[in-house]
Amino acid sequence: MTLSPTRLAALMEPYARHVLVCVGGFCSPNREGRMLYSELARLLHREGLLFGPRRVKRGETPCLGVCVGGPIVVVYPEGVWYAGVTLELLERIVVEHLRDGKVVEDAVFHRLVDQ
Ligand code: FES
Repeated sequence: MTLSPTRLAALMEPYARHVLVCVGGFCSPNREGRMLYSELARLLHREGLLFGPRRVKRGETPCLGVCVGGPIVVVYPEGVWYAGVTLELLERIVVEHLRDGKVVEDAVFHRLVDQ
């Protein structure tokens, strides 16, 4: 079924940020990204970030083009990239960055070029 952009737009709820988690096997051979992705939903729910104006969308992807040092997580609209994300770091990202708006600077390895 094909929907027009206008009809698709009506299906979208507003959101503040988008988080992509790599679940591929090159950056994290033990596929830790899969665990992080499922934990992300729990953490977003706990911090009240699944609904409302501060809503955070999440997505899993098979590759983010880095392929080492993962799991890799990227947050938009800031375009902030995190590497070697553990469950502990993911919790900091959710609380400090997604909830409180303060980037976890010590874990950032790349940023989107200023527009
Ligand atoms: S497999 Fe994770 S960045 Fe490529």
